[in-house]
Amino acid sequence: MHNASTASTTEAATVPETTSSVDSYFADHPTPPFLDNYKDRIQDLLDFHASSPRPIVLITSGGTTVPLETQTVRFIDNFSAGTRGATSAEHFIAQGYVVIFLHRRFSLLPYSRHYSHSTHCFLDFMRPSEDGKNIQVVDEYRPEMLQVLTRYREAQSKRRLLLLDFVTVSEYLHCLRASALLLAPLGPRVMYYLAAAVSDFFIPTKEMAQHKIQSGDGSLSLTMTQVPKFLSILVHSWATSSYIVSFKLETDPKMLLPKAQQALARYGHQVVVANLLHTRKERVVLISPVASTEYTSNPQYSSHTIDLAPGTEEIEEPLVEELVHRHEDWQSTSSS
Ligand code: PMT
Repeated sequence: MHNASTASTTEAATVPETTSSVDSYFADHPTPPFLDNYKDRIQDLLDFHASSPRPIVLITSGGTTVPLETQTVRFIDNFSAGTRGATSAEHFIAQGYVVIFLHRRFSLLPYSRHYSHSTHCFLDFMRPSEDGKNIQVVDEYRPEMLQVLTRYREAQSKRRLLLLDFVTVSEYLHCLRASALLLAPLGPRVMYYLAAAVSDFFIPTKEMAQHKIQSGDGSLSLTMTQVPKFLSILVHSWATSSYIVSFKLETDPKMLLPKAQQALARYGHQVVVANLLHTRKERVVLISPVASTEYTSNPQYSSHTIDLAPGTEEIEEPLVEELVHRHEDWQSTSSS
């Protein structure tokens, strides 16, 4: 289903986040110790694929945390199991992409997701052999497991999947910036698929309790500061010529499309995938600016609804397919 609508003019201008708020956020949150290792691994992957024109997608997946104490016992978390990201990663690889999978530690991973967080314990998929000396896969799971294992091993041997993890929102943002700066020279060949649920508020380091907050004082009041809108900096500074897909999650159906349009009007990127919490596995709506109105004060937006069709197991399959077509068009327009 396609249709076009108009955003209110007050939201139409793209307003880049001030660089100073982003700089001061990074100044307040030191670089994570593993970042150099991540950068080396990304560069190594890019060097490996340097001679092929393969497209690359950076997928963000899972929720970020905000620590309440420097020596963290308590933290605020964002909702996301990582299903969207992990499932999409498999479909992007099937479509020929190299995937950098920036995910929340211990959230769902491509391929292993079929077994890791299922209602079965992973040991239920196996049984001892008759003589008790070996392990076998239980018959009923064997065909599917063989298929998943084959796809997993192929992705590994062809170096089509790089796993990088984060826990806190500041780790996530450091990783996003570092990845974007390394990917920048590849321009339109790169897609960003920002499915992670990113914290909107944090406690500045100097205001954070050093030690575990004590419960003896009764109620707890927290004052939090807004995390700068990094999507703006990504679009306008770190990844200016790449294809950027962000996600919008809402619980109130009335808010969903206006909020998705607002995000496009604010940040000026290519697509917002809008989804509602309770129907996110059955329906997604792709909102994008209508090209001819992109830079006017009254842009129009097209919307394309994807419903999970009978016989299709995962909505990520048609979603990724649609985005791959759009990314191909984008690359050919960018090169002409
Ligand atoms: O993992 P699952 O359980 O399958 O769930 C998938 C999902 C529902 C989490 C996913 O489909 C989804 O909708 N993810 C986005 C959640 C969301 O609404 O995020 P947000 O409103 O906080 O941010 C919207 C966009 O702005 C995001 O693309 C985010 O990358 C970006 N953002 C957010 C905060 C911030 N400070 N800077 C940003 O740039």
